[in-house]
Amino acid sequence: MTINQTQLSSKELQQQDAHGWFQGLLGNSCSESKNCDDDDDDDDDDDDDMTKMKALVVAPMVEQSDLPFRLLCRKYGANLCYTPMFHARMFLTRPRYRAQFWNLDVIRKINKKDRPLIVQFCGGDPMEMLEAAKVVEDHCDAVDVNCGCPQGIARRGNYGAFLLEKEELLLKIVRVLHEGLKKVPVTVKVRLLPPKCCTMQEKGCTCQSDGSVYCLESSLSLYERLIDAGAAILTVHCRTRHQKGHNTGAADWSAVRQVVEKLGHRIPIIANGGIANMDDVEQCLLETKADGVMSSEAVLEYPPIFKRNGSHTKFSNNKRTGPGRVALCNEYLDIAEEYPPDVGGQGSGMKCVRTHIHHFLSADLESNPTVRDMTISAKSYGDLRKALQAIELYHNQSNMEVEDETQHWYFRHRCEDKEGKMVSKTAMFGKSQILAGGELNEETAKGIACLFGNCNDASDY
Ligand SMILES: Cc1cc2nc3c(=O)[nH]c(=O)nc-3n(C[C@H](O)[C@H](O)[C@H](O)COP(=O)(O)O)c2cc1C
Repeated sequence: MTINQTQLSSKELQQQDAHGWFQGLLGNSCSESKNCDDDDDDDDDDDDDMTKMKALVVAPMVEQSDLPFRLLCRKYGANLCYTPMFHARMFLTRPRYRAQFWNLDVIRKINKKDRPLIVQFCGGDPMEMLEAAKVVEDHCDAVDVNCGCPQGIARRGNYGAFLLEKEELLLKIVRVLHEGLKKVPVTVKVRLLPPKCCTMQEKGCTCQSDGSVYCLESSLSLYERLIDAGAAILTVHCRTRHQKGHNTGAADWSAVRQVVEKLGHRIPIIANGGIANMDDVEQCLLETKADGVMSSEAVLEYPPIFKRNGSHTKFSNNKRTGPGRVALCNEYLDIAEEYPPDVGGQGSGMKCVRTHIHHFLSADLESNPTVRDMTISAKSYGDLRKALQAIELYHNQSNMEVEDETQHWYFRHRCEDKEGKMVSKTAMFGKSQILAGGELNEETAKGIACLFGNCNDASDY
């Protein structure tokens, strides 16, 4: 990079050369993060590592892509992170809400260790979105528009995946952000568009019950218009908004391939959906030719998935060779104590921390009701450390080795079919059987509800 280029804003660099700007961001991830120095793995030096200079992205996750979690993921290989979605109107009008997410003291203290960072907003009012985005543009690398949230609350609030079906409003939001932001570009995270019958008259729709049918033509046409309006990156979550909860199932990477073929020469495209480990990352990049991959549920359960020798890859003989889940919990707690999620760390405090521990330890908590109750009722870091000691004891007594740890929470809605293809449990067993077999007992259900507060289940995103 020449001296003149370093003086240019992220937005100017992006406008000069969209792919060059993106590569620059990923490059900065390693040169600026102290954590890269801690990297003792040698797998990343491989010449055949096709993930070099590709984005390995931690998804935006309400309550879960908080600052301490992002720092942990960056240590284990992620080179680009998103904040959780911030509600633009609340961010502008409620000082306490904003303080939880955006605290300049914390931003100064973190001193670029949490970059590159994309801040995501949701909202359906172009001017509100712009005003909120202006507040953060000095301390991030881009501002993202959430067009993925499929929950009822997003339908009512006119945001998330429902914006995709309000094309003119969405384009206006992107245009207003593109024209109004001075320093950083605007990016968009989209889902695939359902066919018109699903969007117009859902009750009479004859599409498959798991919602996996989508309309490629209208998706591509919308994405092209988003780029014309100024979108600097498109992240394609290759499922429709109907594919949530039990219907989550397989993501269709072939759709991302089509997006890359048609639009990938204009801006970077990130593939999202169905990334469980580094083998999936490599396969997805091979099949889609995307500029990067984004993971949400798998990285939540095991942050080192972006390491070839992390967990369950050909490279690791299908074992877990990275750190064990209890060690990861302790690492997360260390960082969370330094950067508490409710003090500018972009989570709700103990609820956010407990939910992380629940994701990390999902396999243990199911078979240890006592420890599960300890984590559910934990009110302090000390309470959670005690629960971790109990799990450690249990691992020792049952001679459990780290290499035997498997993914558990990630597979709660998915399974492999006879050909080893990932499918939703609904597609495999039928909806009625899933509901009957998947009913939680009252105690567990209460515990989970308490972990997630008022949300239904994280799988609904
Ligand atoms: C706990 C949780 C919170 C989420 N919050 C958001 C969000 O704030 N914004 C968003 O665009 N997507 C959100 N998502 C969706 C993910 O970013 C991602 O698109 C989706 O989970 C598919 O990726 P996966 O197959 O790797 O899980 C959330 C997902 C989860 C599990």
